Parts: sequence; structure tokens; C-alpha cells
Amino acid sequence: MAYPKRYTVTAALPYANGPIHLGHVAGAYLPADIYVRYLRQKKATVVFVSGTDEHGVPVVIRAQQEGVTPRQVVDKYHTLIKEALQGLGISFDIFARTSSPTHYETAADFFKVLHQKGVFEVYETDQYYDPVCKQFLSDRYIKGSCPSCKHPGAYGDQCEACGRTLSPEELIDPISAISGVAPILKSTKHWYLPLNRYEDWLKQWILEDHKDFKTNVYGQCKGWLDQGLQPRAVTRDLAWGIPVPLPEATGKVLYVWFDAPIGYISATKEWAKAQQIDWEPFWQDPDTKLVHFLGKDNIVFHCIIFPVMLKAHGSFILPQQVPANEFLNLEGQKLSTSRNHAVWLHDYLETFPGKADVLRYVLCTIAPENKDSDFTWQDFQDKNNRELVANLGNLVHRTLSLVHRYFDGLVPPSIAPNGADQTLLTDLMDAFTAVGDAIAQFKFKEALQLVMGYAALGNKYLTDRRPWHLVKSNPEEAGIVLHVTLQLIATVTLLIKPFLPTTGDKMAHMLGLQETGWGGDLDVTKLLQPGDRLLPPIVLFEKIEDDIIAAQRAKLQPNATEPVV
Ligand code: MF3
Ligand code: ZN
Repeated sequence: MAYPKRYTVTAALPYANGPIHLGHVAGAYLPADIYVRYLRQKKATVVFVSGTDEHGVPVVIRAQQEGVTPRQVVDKYHTLIKEALQGLGISFDIFARTSSPTHYETAADFFKVLHQKGVFEVYETDQYYDPVCKQFLSDRYIKGSCPSCKHPGAYGDQCEACGRTLSPEELIDPISAISGVAPILKSTKHWYLPLNRYEDWLKQWILEDHKDFKTNVYGQCKGWLDQGLQPRAVTRDLAWGIPVPLPEATGKVLYVWFDAPIGYISATKEWAKAQQIDWEPFWQDPDTKLVHFLGKDNIVFHCIIFPVMLKAHGSFILPQQVPANEFLNLEGQKLSTSRNHAVWLHDYLETFPGKADVLRYVLCTIAPENKDSDFTWQDFQDKNNRELVANLGNLVHRTLSLVHRYFDGLVPPSIAPNGADQTLLTDLMDAFTAVGDAIAQFKFKEALQLVMGYAALGNKYLTDRRPWHLVKSNPEEAGIVLHVTLQLIATVTLLIKPFLPTTGDKMAHMLGLQETGWGGDLDVTKLLQPGDRLLPPIVLFEKIEDDIIAAQRAKLQPNATEPVV
């Protein structure tokens, strides 16, 4: 298989209307970061972009709730989100904003190109209007009962209870989310992207040419295509957003879902400019692999609407992969911002300083790759104590301690390993291929399991070979065992880096490991040289006690039983 020349990797732009929680992290940011770190270790050319999605009704509603301007809302949450993701070690090349001048220009130009090509259809239709606030009600400005599941708090764009995408006129008994009154109908003109005209093309592109999409993604796309597509308005009557760049569209802005994905392009432009390189190859060269990471509620936008926009524009490549995840639940219940049933990332990082990798570990082991999964504090504690402390931390600590005790902290010579020693080294030989293949197929859970399997193998090997006994009768053989274990730890260090970057760095530092790559011509039997000096072991992971976990669980209790609104 030929490798692409470069990668453009995106992680969905979080709305700047609130902090992000573990569901967002497990859904998009963590898998994207693991993938990108792996690619960088392989020395691939890659740009990893994201940023805040700062337009749309959710931002305006939040501003009204907090009694501030939309600008103040997005400034506040941009910083909060950016710092939280940084704290977790999510290694974006740029974390941009859709309020930046570059983005305004890029999005407006994109619209103009489609307009000039005659892509849009313009319709004048009756839409809901709030007679009290004198304002059109689109998307989340309008609420009502869901036509599918009858949930009473469904929004004009989506029902959060059943996940169905909606348009305002489908809601039963609609009311204005601003004033609470029943809306009236009023005529207004909008620009539509005629998705229906791209149906045949989409069927070919997804259903035939992208059978390699993850089954959850492929299945959702097929569902959409089987239902048939409708023209979709890409403009809104709203005061907050990017003005529609046409003289006859005063007072109208681009629909947030039109401008936001273009944010990936404008972010890349800003990054490239700062690097003094061209941005175009990252979006226009067919030798670039474009990969979008996101949660399942974003699939239709990234697999259908944005590709249609890119295709209609004509100058851009299309995504090769859209590895969307399903949802993460919390203690058996759906995460909910309104009920405060969530673990906020910035909160976690404050409560557990220095434990970003623990969260990365736990979230990766329960990543909702194929179906919804559940985060519980009990599982968090167990995985920390039984896997990170007892397996990985223990392996590193006991091995380095033994080398310091018996071999002055120097890597012992290997002489000629045979038997069990050689078997272990042989087992390690295809580690980079095995773990790398899983990552490349977006099977992060499986990949991490493999890595931890190697650590467990090391522990078992030490326990079987007992170098602390051997050292008395046969110090040379004890040296071989420790030499072999150290090569295994060095291998695990490189393998674990995409998943637990801080831990990987600490391990590399203790070992004095120079190598930073992945696979290729790496010789796993020679990552360390006899005589290399090791630092004394530092503790990688600490046990987390019951009271800490109980306190976290208690934080969730008060609101968890309130009805869903
Ligand atoms: N803000 C959206 C959400 O959180 C995601 C936008 S992704 C982009 O659901 F493609 F539009 F950028
Ligand atoms: Zn519903």
C-alpha cells in the first residue's frame, strides 16, 4: 500500500458556548491525537487542526442566559476549551477560531464561488417568527415535541433524546426558546444547497467507493441516502455570524454548519502562514489524506453536507476517512449539559493534576468506537490501580530498581540470549507493525490493549526468570534477563507515546532512550546499548484511593435525578 504524501487531520470544532466534557474527548479529540502522534512518530507530514465553532444559535442563547454578548461568550470558552485540551496533551498544530478574519474571508469566498457557479437554489418560504422578539426562529431558537420519540424538549435542528435531525416545521407544538410564545409564520428568502442533486454522486462516493468507512459511519450515511436528500438552507436570519456576501442578503448570515467545516481550511491557512509554507497542498493535492475525527451526531455534516460543498466548489480534495465515534455515557446515563451530568475536562485536570495520562488511558480503553460506552469512576479507579500502577508502573519501577541495585544503573550486557529470553525478543519484533496497523485502522482500544499486553509480558517474564535470585548464582544470566526486559520497556516506551505522551517521555528520560521513531528499521533488540546509564526510577502512576473516587461520584449526584429538559 502506497503511503499518502501528507495528512490533514481534523477534530470537530467544539462550540464555544460551554466547556467540553469527557464525551467530546472520547469521541473526537483523543482518538485524533493518538492517530496524529503515531503519524508524527512515523515521520509523516501531517497537520492537525481544530478550533472553536463560534457562530450559531447555541452561542447566542448562552449569551442571553449569561447576560453577556456573544463575543464575550466565545472569548471565554475559546480560552477555556483551548487550555483544557492543551492540558490533556492534545497536540494540535493550530487551535483556531471561526471568528478570525481569515475564516470570515475564507467562508465568504467559499459561498461566493458556489454562488457564481450557480450551485444554490433560492427559495422564499414561510418560517417561524417570534412576534414578541421580532426575530426569525431557526435551529435551537425553536423548541417543541419530537415527531419521532415525542420528547418534549426537542430543538428545531435536532432531538437530543433520540438523536434525530429535524427541521423546525416538524416539531409538534413549537414555541420560541427566547420568549416562550407560540411562533407565527412569516415569509423569508434563503439560499439552499441542493443536496438532492448530489444524491447519485454521494451514493457512488460513499456506498460504493467508501465501503472502508467504519460500519457505524457507513450505516448512518446509508440511512440518510436511503431516505433521500432535500435541499438544505445554508443561510439564516440571525444577527450573529458571517454576513452572507451578497448585496441582496442584508441582515442574513451563513448557517453555522456552512461556515464551521470551512474552519478546518481557514485554520490550515493560518497555520501554514505562520510556518511560511503553502496551505494549498494540504487541501488540494490528491496525494493528501484528509481525515475527520468527530462524534456520531456530526456524521451527516462531514460525510454528506461538507463533501457536497467541497465537490461543488471543485478545488478541494474529499475526506478519505471519517472515523466517527459513538457516544460516551456517564455512570450509566446519557451525558447532559443541562442536567450537569457530565465530567468537565477542565474540572478533571484541576482535580487530578499531573494525571492527564490516566484519563487518556481510561478513555482510550472505553472509547465508544463501535457502540456507546460508559465511563464510571469505579472503572477509572480500577484501571488506574490495576493496570497503570500494577502493570506498567510496576514493570518500569522494579526493572530499574533491580538494575540500580545489581548493575550500578548501567544496562547490563546481553551476551547471547536464548530460550525464554530470545522468545521474548522475538515476540517484540512485530510489535510496531501490530500496534501501528490497529492505529491506522482507528482501532485505538485494541492498539492500546496490545501495548499493555507487552508490558504484562515483561512482568510475567521477570517473575518467571527471577533475576533477583539468579544474580546470586549466575549474575551474567541475571544481566541478560534485565537487558532483555529493558529492551522491552524501551519498545513499550515508543509504543505508548501516542496514547500516554507524558508517561512515554518520562520513561524515555529514565532510560536515556534516544530513539523517537516508530517501526521501520528499528531493531527492538538494540534500542538500548550495554553500558547505557539509567536514571533512578521515578513513580509513574500512584494508587487512587476510595475517598477520592467517592468525592467525584458525589459531585454528580445532586442533579442526576432531575428530569430531562
Ligand atoms: N460545533 C459542532 C459540534 O460541536 C461541530 C462542528 S465540526 C465542523 O457539534 F466541522 F463544523 F467544524
Ligand atoms: Zn426524539
